[in-house]
Amino acid sequence: MAVEVDLFKAGMRRLAGHVCVITTAAGDGGRNGLTATAVASVTVSPPTLLCCINRTASAFETVKDTGRFVINVMSETEREIANRFAGGDSGEARFTSGHWLTLATGAPVLASALVAFDCRVSDIAEIGSHGVFFGEVQAIHLSDGIDRPLLYLQGAYGSFSQFG
Ligand SMILES: Cc1cc2nc3c(=O)[nH]c(=O)nc-3n(C[C@H](O)[C@H](O)[C@H](O)COP(=O)(O)O)c2cc1C
Repeated sequence: MAVEVDLFKAGMRRLAGHVCVITTAAGDGGRNGLTATAVASVTVSPPTLLCCINRTASAFETVKDTGRFVINVMSETEREIANRFAGGDSGEARFTSGHWLTLATGAPVLASALVAFDCRVSDIAEIGSHGVFFGEVQAIHLSDGIDRPLLYLQGAYGSFSQFG
């Protein structure tokens, strides 16, 4: 028997996550993205990550249709950008701060992210409310320095005090 949803949510609130911004670009160049913690490494060969995107997210169809996304791994200094991509703004307005580049796929890369993985979708699993997108990494951008990470736990942002 499945566990209660509220119990599952209470448990998940105790799992600290690294805040990422997943970005994509439509065929006409229109950019979009969302803040996400449901990101994980899958395998080194071929270099593959996964991210879980709610079907209701405005970027969902663009990732599915174009098969491109970037996982921008956020530093502690990028809280404001994370808030924009979590619904503080929508679509192109989410890109008004930050320096954005493109690498291999054409999806937006945040130059100041700790690391950005530029991915081509290699597989999709649709489970319940979410699409699980597997992305084969086409290019990687590392920021100049290593700032503290932006983490999320119990509904709040924080960081990793032992670092730096
Ligand atoms: C810390 C944090 C983590 C999130 N993680 C995810 C995630 O892994 N997957 C997801 O689909 N939405 C996640 N969200 C919610 C999306 O960022 C939010 O729904 C966003 O507004 C995208 O939807 P929209 O483009 O329709 O506004 C997260 C939000 C926050 C604040």
